[in-house]
Amino acid sequence: MMKTILITGGAGFIGSHVVRLYVNKYPDYKIVNLDKLTYAGNLENLKDIDKKPNYEFIKADICDTETIFALFQKYLFDGVIHLAAESHVDRSITDPMAFVKTNVIGTCNLLNAAKAIWKDQHDEKLFYHVSTDEVYGSLEHEGFFYETTAYDPQSPYSASKASSDHFVRAYHNTYKLPIVISNCSNNYGANQFPEKLIPLSINNIKNNKPIPVYGKGENIRDWLYVEDHAAAIDVIFHKGKTGETYNIGGNNEWKNIDLIYKLCDVMDKKLNRPAGTSARLITFVKDRAGHDLRYAIDSSKLQKELGWSPSLQFEEGIEKTVDWYLANEQWLMNVVSGEYSKYYDNQYLHR
Ligand code: NAD
Ligand code: TYD
Repeated sequence: MMKTILITGGAGFIGSHVVRLYVNKYPDYKIVNLDKLTYAGNLENLKDIDKKPNYEFIKADICDTETIFALFQKYLFDGVIHLAAESHVDRSITDPMAFVKTNVIGTCNLLNAAKAIWKDQHDEKLFYHVSTDEVYGSLEHEGFFYETTAYDPQSPYSASKASSDHFVRAYHNTYKLPIVISNCSNNYGANQFPEKLIPLSINNIKNNKPIPVYGKGENIRDWLYVEDHAAAIDVIFHKGKTGETYNIGGNNEWKNIDLIYKLCDVMDKKLNRPAGTSARLITFVKDRAGHDLRYAIDSSKLQKELGWSPSLQFEEGIEKTVDWYLANEQWLMNVVSGEYSKYYDNQYLHR
Protein backbone atom coordinates (compact mmCIF):
# COMPACT_ATOMS: atom_id res chain seq x y z
CA MET A 1 0.00 0.00 0.00
CA MET A 2 1.20 3.51 -0.83
CA LYS A 3 2.26 5.38 2.28
CA THR A 4 2.65 9.11 2.78
CA ILE A 5 5.37 9.93 5.29
CA LEU A 6 6.07 13.35 6.78
CA ILE A 7 9.74 13.88 7.63
CA THR A 8 10.37 17.08 9.58
CA GLY A 9 13.82 18.70 9.54
CA GLY A 10 14.74 16.84 6.36
CA ALA A 11 16.98 19.64 5.09
CA GLY A 12 19.25 19.35 8.13
CA PHE A 13 22.18 17.03 8.78
CA ILE A 14 20.55 13.76 9.89
CA GLY A 15 17.18 14.51 8.26
CA SER A 16 18.75 14.79 4.81
CA HIS A 17 20.25 11.30 5.15
CA VAL A 18 16.88 9.92 6.29
CA VAL A 19 15.04 11.63 3.41
CA ARG A 20 17.55 10.31 0.84
CA LEU A 21 17.34 6.77 2.24
CA TYR A 22 13.52 6.78 2.16
CA VAL A 23 13.14 8.40 -1.27
CA ASN A 24 15.56 5.89 -2.84
CA LYS A 25 14.57 2.79 -0.89
CA TYR A 26 10.78 3.22 -0.97
CA PRO A 27 9.65 4.40 -4.41
CA ASP A 28 6.06 3.52 -3.39
CA TYR A 29 6.11 5.93 -0.45
CA LYS A 30 5.47 9.60 -0.89
CA ILE A 31 8.04 11.47 1.19
CA VAL A 32 7.05 14.96 2.32
CA ASN A 33 9.99 16.89 3.76
CA LEU A 34 8.86 19.80 5.95
CA ASP A 35 11.58 22.21 7.02
CA LYS A 36 11.74 25.85 8.07
CA LEU A 37 15.21 26.20 6.53
CA THR A 38 16.85 27.81 9.53
CA TYR A 39 20.61 28.43 9.39
CA ALA A 40 20.99 24.63 9.76
CA GLY A 41 18.64 23.66 6.93
CA ASN A 42 20.08 23.46 3.45
CA LEU A 43 18.30 22.17 0.35
CA GLU A 44 21.70 21.60 -1.29
CA ASN A 45 21.88 18.55 0.98
CA LEU A 46 19.15 16.95 -1.15
CA LYS A 47 19.92 18.09 -4.67
CA ASP A 48 20.57 14.51 -5.86
CA ILE A 49 17.00 13.39 -5.06
CA ASP A 50 14.85 16.51 -5.21
CA LYS A 51 13.47 15.76 -8.69
CA LYS A 52 12.29 12.26 -7.78
CA PRO A 53 8.53 11.77 -8.27
CA ASN A 54 7.99 10.45 -4.72
CA TYR A 55 9.55 13.52 -3.07
CA GLU A 56 8.03 16.85 -2.09
CA PHE A 57 9.48 19.74 -0.08
CA ILE A 58 7.39 22.12 2.01
CA LYS A 59 8.93 25.16 3.67
CA ALA A 60 7.11 25.58 6.97
CA ASP A 61 7.63 26.08 10.69
CA ILE A 62 6.51 23.24 12.99
CA CYS A 63 5.37 25.94 15.43
CA ASP A 64 2.81 27.28 12.92
CA THR A 65 -0.35 25.54 14.17
CA GLU A 66 -2.63 26.48 11.29
CA THR A 67 -0.22 25.33 8.59
CA ILE A 68 0.63 22.07 10.37
CA PHE A 69 -3.04 21.16 10.88
CA ALA A 70 -3.84 22.03 7.25
CA LEU A 71 -1.00 19.81 6.03
CA PHE A 72 -2.11 16.85 8.17
CA GLN A 73 -5.62 17.33 6.79
CA LYS A 74 -4.44 17.59 3.19
CA TYR A 75 -1.91 14.73 3.10
CA LEU A 76 -3.44 12.35 5.69
CA PHE A 77 0.09 11.25 6.63
CA ASP A 78 0.45 7.59 7.53
CA GLY A 79 3.61 8.23 9.49
CA VAL A 80 5.71 11.07 10.87
CA ILE A 81 9.47 10.95 11.41
CA HIS A 82 10.14 14.05 13.48
CA LEU A 83 13.69 15.38 13.37
CA ALA A 84 13.18 19.16 13.14
CA ALA A 85 14.88 20.79 16.10
CA GLU A 86 17.32 23.36 17.30
CA SER A 87 20.24 21.01 17.84
CA HIS A 88 23.36 22.81 19.08
CA VAL A 89 24.20 22.94 22.81
CA ASP A 90 26.28 26.14 22.54
CA ARG A 91 23.40 28.00 20.86
CA SER A 92 21.02 26.73 23.56
CA ILE A 93 23.24 28.36 26.17
CA THR A 94 22.95 31.78 24.48
CA ASP A 95 19.31 31.50 23.38
CA PRO A 96 17.32 28.88 25.34
CA MET A 97 13.92 30.21 24.24
CA ALA A 98 14.54 29.25 20.60
CA PHE A 99 14.91 25.67 21.90
CA VAL A 100 11.73 25.86 23.97
CA LYS A 101 9.84 27.12 20.91
CA THR A 102 10.92 24.62 18.29
CA ASN A 103 11.77 21.57 20.37
CA VAL A 104 8.93 21.72 22.88
CA ILE A 105 6.11 23.80 21.37
CA GLY A 106 6.84 22.67 17.80
CA THR A 107 6.77 19.00 18.86
CA CYS A 108 3.48 19.49 20.79
CA ASN A 109 2.01 21.20 17.76
CA LEU A 110 2.78 18.15 15.61
CA LEU A 111 1.40 15.83 18.30
CA ASN A 112 -1.84 17.85 18.44
CA ALA A 113 -2.25 17.70 14.68
CA ALA A 114 -1.61 13.93 14.62
CA LYS A 115 -4.07 13.42 17.50
CA ALA A 116 -6.78 15.54 15.87
CA ILE A 117 -6.49 14.19 12.33
CA TRP A 118 -5.63 10.56 13.04
CA LYS A 119 -8.44 10.27 15.63
CA ASP A 120 -8.62 6.55 16.51
CA GLN A 121 -6.91 5.10 13.42
CA HIS A 122 -4.16 3.93 15.74
CA ASP A 123 -3.26 0.68 14.01
CA GLU A 124 -2.25 2.29 10.72
CA LYS A 125 -0.32 5.33 11.99
CA LEU A 126 3.01 6.04 13.67
CA PHE A 127 4.56 9.18 15.15
CA TYR A 128 8.33 8.58 15.40
CA HIS A 129 10.16 11.11 17.55
CA VAL A 130 13.94 11.32 17.01
CA SER A 131 15.79 12.28 20.17
CA THR A 132 19.21 12.34 21.75
CA ASP A 133 21.14 10.49 24.46
CA GLU A 134 21.81 13.89 26.07
CA VAL A 135 18.41 13.64 27.84
CA TYR A 136 20.01 11.09 30.21
CA GLY A 137 22.51 13.68 31.48
CA SER A 138 26.21 13.05 32.02
CA LEU A 139 28.07 9.87 33.00
CA GLU A 140 31.25 9.51 35.03
CA HIS A 141 33.89 7.17 33.61
CA GLU A 142 31.86 4.00 34.23
CA GLY A 143 28.46 2.80 33.00
CA PHE A 144 26.12 3.35 30.07
CA PHE A 145 22.79 4.95 29.24
CA TYR A 146 19.98 2.37 29.00
CA GLU A 147 16.40 2.94 27.86
CA THR A 148 15.49 2.75 31.56
CA THR A 149 18.02 5.37 32.72
CA ALA A 150 16.26 8.26 34.49
CA TYR A 151 16.24 11.53 32.56
CA ASP A 152 18.64 14.14 33.96
CA PRO A 153 19.21 16.76 31.23
CA GLN A 154 21.89 19.33 31.99
CA SER A 155 21.83 21.86 29.12
CA PRO A 156 18.94 23.95 27.76
CA TYR A 157 19.19 21.83 24.57
CA SER A 158 18.91 18.50 26.39
CA ALA A 159 16.20 19.89 28.70
CA SER A 160 14.12 20.90 25.67
CA LYS A 161 14.61 17.49 24.03
CA ALA A 162 13.76 15.72 27.32
CA SER A 163 10.62 17.80 27.59
CA SER A 164 9.59 16.88 24.04
CA ASP A 165 10.22 13.17 24.76
CA HIS A 166 7.98 13.42 27.85
CA PHE A 167 5.19 15.03 25.81
CA VAL A 168 5.43 12.31 23.15
CA ARG A 169 5.11 9.60 25.83
CA ALA A 170 2.29 11.52 27.54
CA TYR A 171 0.29 11.60 24.28
CA HIS A 172 0.75 7.84 23.98
CA ASN A 173 -0.29 7.23 27.56
CA THR A 174 -3.20 9.67 27.61
CA TYR A 175 -4.58 9.62 24.06
CA LYS A 176 -3.13 6.29 22.84
CA LEU A 177 -1.29 8.11 20.06
CA PRO A 178 0.93 5.47 18.38
CA ILE A 179 4.48 6.63 19.00
CA VAL A 180 8.04 5.39 19.06
CA ILE A 181 11.13 7.24 20.32
CA SER A 182 14.84 6.74 19.73
CA ASN A 183 17.71 8.35 21.64
CA CYS A 184 20.94 8.46 19.68
CA SER A 185 24.55 9.33 20.47
CA ASN A 186 26.66 11.95 18.62
CA ASN A 187 26.49 11.65 14.83
CA TYR A 188 29.18 12.52 12.29
CA GLY A 189 29.38 12.43 8.50
CA ALA A 190 28.59 14.45 5.37
CA ASN A 191 26.36 17.55 5.53
CA GLN A 192 26.86 18.33 9.22
CA PHE A 193 26.81 22.07 9.88
CA PRO A 194 30.33 23.23 10.80
CA GLU A 195 29.34 24.52 14.25
CA LYS A 196 29.66 20.94 15.58
CA LEU A 197 33.04 19.60 16.70
CA ILE A 198 34.07 17.40 13.74
CA PRO A 199 33.13 19.60 10.75
CA LEU A 200 34.25 22.75 12.60
CA SER A 201 37.66 21.18 13.17
CA ILE A 202 37.93 19.94 9.57
CA ASN A 203 37.11 23.41 8.28
CA ASN A 204 39.57 25.11 10.63
CA ILE A 205 42.39 22.67 9.84
CA LYS A 206 41.79 23.19 6.13
CA ASN A 207 42.07 26.96 6.63
CA ASN A 208 44.97 26.81 9.11
CA LYS A 209 42.80 28.28 11.86
CA PRO A 210 43.02 27.33 15.57
CA ILE A 211 41.05 24.21 16.58
CA PRO A 212 39.16 25.29 19.72
CA VAL A 213 39.13 22.48 22.30
CA TYR A 214 36.89 23.21 25.28
CA GLY A 215 38.51 22.82 28.71
CA LYS A 216 41.15 20.11 28.69
CA GLY A 217 39.52 18.09 25.91
CA GLU A 218 38.71 15.30 28.35
CA ASN A 219 34.99 15.04 27.68
CA ILE A 220 33.92 11.80 26.05
CA ARG A 221 31.37 11.25 23.30
CA ASP A 222 30.14 8.06 21.57
CA TRP A 223 30.27 8.71 17.80
CA LEU A 224 27.99 7.09 15.21
CA TYR A 225 28.22 7.48 11.43
CA VAL A 226 25.12 9.35 10.27
CA GLU A 227 24.10 6.75 7.65
CA ASP A 228 24.04 4.14 10.40
CA HIS A 229 21.66 6.38 12.36
CA ALA A 230 19.43 6.71 9.27
CA ALA A 231 19.45 2.90 8.89
CA ALA A 232 18.49 2.51 12.56
CA ILE A 233 15.61 4.98 12.11
CA ASP A 234 14.40 2.93 9.13
CA VAL A 235 14.48 -0.31 11.15
CA ILE A 236 12.70 1.27 14.14
CA PHE A 237 10.06 2.95 11.96
CA HIS A 238 9.17 -0.34 10.28
CA LYS A 239 9.81 -2.92 13.01
CA GLY A 240 9.82 -1.01 16.31
CA LYS A 241 7.11 -1.73 18.88
CA THR A 242 4.60 1.06 19.40
CA GLY A 243 5.13 2.92 22.66
CA GLU A 244 8.75 1.76 22.99
CA THR A 245 12.04 3.60 23.23
CA TYR A 246 15.24 2.43 21.51
CA ASN A 247 18.76 3.64 22.24
CA ILE A 248 21.07 4.00 19.23
CA GLY A 249 24.84 4.25 19.64
CA GLY A 250 28.14 3.59 17.97
CA ASN A 251 29.86 1.73 20.82
CA ASN A 252 32.67 4.09 19.87
CA GLU A 253 33.79 6.35 22.71
CA TRP A 254 36.42 9.02 22.14
CA LYS A 255 37.90 11.63 24.41
CA ASN A 256 37.62 14.91 22.49
CA ILE A 257 41.36 15.52 22.46
CA ASP A 258 42.13 12.00 21.17
CA LEU A 259 39.51 12.42 18.46
CA ILE A 260 41.05 15.75 17.43
CA TYR A 261 44.55 14.21 17.21
CA LYS A 262 43.11 11.40 15.07
CA LEU A 263 41.40 13.94 12.82
CA CYS A 264 44.64 15.94 12.53
CA ASP A 265 46.50 12.79 11.38
CA VAL A 266 43.87 12.07 8.73
CA MET A 267 43.89 15.70 7.55
CA ASP A 268 47.72 15.82 7.33
CA LYS A 269 47.63 12.76 5.07
CA LYS A 270 44.75 14.01 2.91
CA LEU A 271 46.28 17.48 2.52
CA ASN A 272 49.82 16.12 2.00
CA ARG A 273 51.11 18.07 4.98
CA PRO A 274 54.03 16.81 7.10
CA ALA A 275 52.83 14.70 10.07
CA GLY A 276 52.11 16.93 13.09
CA THR A 277 51.25 20.08 11.09
CA SER A 278 47.51 20.14 11.88
CA ALA A 279 47.97 19.21 15.56
CA ARG A 280 49.86 22.48 16.04
CA LEU A 281 46.53 24.25 15.53
CA ILE A 282 45.02 22.70 18.69
CA THR A 283 44.09 25.52 21.09
CA PHE A 284 42.57 24.95 24.52
CA VAL A 285 39.82 27.48 25.17
CA LYS A 286 37.41 28.30 28.01
CA ASP A 287 35.18 25.33 28.80
CA ARG A 288 31.50 25.17 27.84
CA ALA A 289 29.22 26.09 30.78
CA GLY A 290 27.82 22.93 32.40
CA HIS A 291 29.81 20.74 30.00
CA ASP A 292 28.61 17.09 30.20
CA LEU A 293 31.59 14.83 30.89
CA ARG A 294 30.63 11.61 29.14
CA TYR A 295 27.90 10.06 27.03
CA ALA A 296 27.86 6.32 26.30
CA ILE A 297 24.93 4.38 24.90
CA ASP A 298 23.97 0.77 25.42
CA SER A 299 22.13 -0.12 22.20
CA SER A 300 21.74 -3.87 22.88
CA LYS A 301 17.91 -3.65 22.91
CA LEU A 302 17.91 -2.37 19.32
CA GLN A 303 20.58 -4.87 18.28
CA LYS A 304 18.86 -7.90 19.87
CA GLU A 305 15.22 -7.08 19.20
CA LEU A 306 15.40 -5.43 15.78
CA GLY A 307 18.71 -6.71 14.40
CA TRP A 308 20.41 -3.34 13.76
CA SER A 309 24.12 -2.78 14.26
CA PRO A 310 26.54 -0.04 13.15
CA SER A 311 28.11 -0.87 9.79
CA LEU A 312 31.23 1.32 9.83
CA GLN A 313 34.35 1.37 11.96
CA PHE A 314 35.29 4.89 13.08
CA GLU A 315 38.58 4.89 11.10
CA GLU A 316 36.63 4.31 7.88
CA GLY A 317 33.84 6.73 8.81
CA ILE A 318 36.17 9.59 9.67
CA GLU A 319 38.10 9.16 6.39
CA LYS A 320 34.86 9.18 4.41
CA THR A 321 33.76 12.29 6.30
CA VAL A 322 37.01 14.17 5.67
CA ASP A 323 36.92 13.13 1.99
CA TRP A 324 33.37 14.49 1.71
CA TYR A 325 34.24 17.89 3.21
CA LEU A 326 37.36 18.22 1.05
CA ALA A 327 35.39 17.29 -2.08
CA ASN A 328 32.54 19.68 -1.25
CA GLU A 329 34.39 22.93 -0.79
CA GLN A 330 31.54 24.96 -2.30
CA TRP A 331 28.99 23.50 0.15
CA LEU A 332 31.28 24.46 3.02
CA MET A 333 31.93 27.95 1.62
CA ASN A 334 28.19 28.55 1.20
CA VAL A 335 27.32 27.58 4.76
CA VAL A 336 30.19 29.40 6.48
CA SER A 337 29.31 32.74 4.93
CA GLY A 338 26.70 35.09 6.42
CA GLU A 339 25.07 33.96 9.66
CA TYR A 340 27.84 31.49 10.49
CA SER A 341 30.62 34.03 10.52
CA LYS A 342 28.70 36.21 13.01
CA TYR A 343 28.02 33.16 15.18
CA TYR A 344 31.68 32.11 15.00
CA ASP A 345 32.99 35.51 16.07
CA ASN A 346 30.58 35.68 19.02
CA GLN A 347 31.29 32.15 20.11
CA TYR A 348 35.05 31.97 19.73
CA LEU A 349 36.71 35.36 19.38
CA HIS A 350 35.61 36.57 22.81
CA ARG A 351 36.11 33.26 24.58
P1 NAD B 1 20.30 20.08 12.34
O1 NAD B 1 20.41 21.28 13.21
O2 NAD B 1 21.40 19.78 11.37
O3 NAD B 1 18.95 20.14 11.49
C1 NAD B 1 17.74 20.54 12.04
C2 NAD B 1 16.77 20.82 10.90
O4 NAD B 1 15.52 21.23 11.48
C3 NAD B 1 17.22 21.95 9.97
O5 NAD B 1 17.03 21.57 8.63
C4 NAD B 1 16.30 23.11 10.35
O6 NAD B 1 16.05 23.99 9.27
C5 NAD B 1 15.05 22.38 10.80
N1 NAD B 1 14.24 23.19 11.73
C6 NAD B 1 14.69 23.84 12.84
N2 NAD B 1 13.66 24.49 13.42
C7 NAD B 1 12.55 24.22 12.69
C8 NAD B 1 11.18 24.59 12.80
N3 NAD B 1 10.76 25.40 13.78
N4 NAD B 1 10.32 24.12 11.89
C9 NAD B 1 10.73 23.31 10.87
N5 NAD B 1 12.02 22.96 10.71
C10 NAD B 1 12.92 23.39 11.61
O7 NAD B 1 20.07 18.85 13.34
P2 NAD B 1 20.55 17.34 13.25
O8 NAD B 1 21.88 17.23 13.84
O9 NAD B 1 20.29 16.83 11.89
O10 NAD B 1 19.51 16.67 14.27
C11 NAD B 1 18.25 16.21 13.82
C12 NAD B 1 17.51 15.59 14.99
O11 NAD B 1 18.27 14.53 15.56
C13 NAD B 1 17.26 16.58 16.15
O12 NAD B 1 15.98 16.33 16.67
C14 NAD B 1 18.35 16.24 17.15
O13 NAD B 1 17.92 16.54 18.47
C15 NAD B 1 18.49 14.74 16.94
N6 NAD B 1 19.82 14.18 17.25
C16 NAD B 1 20.95 14.74 16.73
C17 NAD B 1 22.20 14.15 17.01
C18 NAD B 1 23.48 14.71 16.42
O14 NAD B 1 24.57 14.23 16.77
N7 NAD B 1 23.43 15.67 15.52
C19 NAD B 1 22.26 13.02 17.82
C20 NAD B 1 21.08 12.49 18.33
C21 NAD B 1 19.86 13.06 18.03
P1 TYD C 1 29.29 19.08 19.74
O1 TYD C 1 29.72 18.64 18.38
O2 TYD C 1 28.79 20.47 19.93
O3 TYD C 1 28.19 18.02 20.24
P2 TYD C 1 27.53 17.82 21.74
O4 TYD C 1 27.82 18.99 22.57
O5 TYD C 1 26.08 17.72 21.40
O6 TYD C 1 28.13 16.54 22.25
O7 TYD C 1 30.49 18.87 20.75
C1 TYD C 1 31.12 17.60 20.88
C2 TYD C 1 32.16 17.72 22.00
O8 TYD C 1 33.20 18.60 21.55
C3 TYD C 1 31.62 18.34 23.28
O9 TYD C 1 32.25 17.72 24.38
C4 TYD C 1 32.04 19.79 23.18
C5 TYD C 1 33.35 19.74 22.41
N1 TYD C 1 33.65 20.91 21.54
C6 TYD C 1 34.91 21.50 21.61
O10 TYD C 1 35.79 21.08 22.38
N2 TYD C 1 35.16 22.56 20.77
C7 TYD C 1 34.22 23.05 19.91
O11 TYD C 1 34.50 24.06 19.19
C8 TYD C 1 32.93 22.41 19.84
C9 TYD C 1 31.88 22.91 18.90
C10 TYD C 1 32.70 21.33 20.68
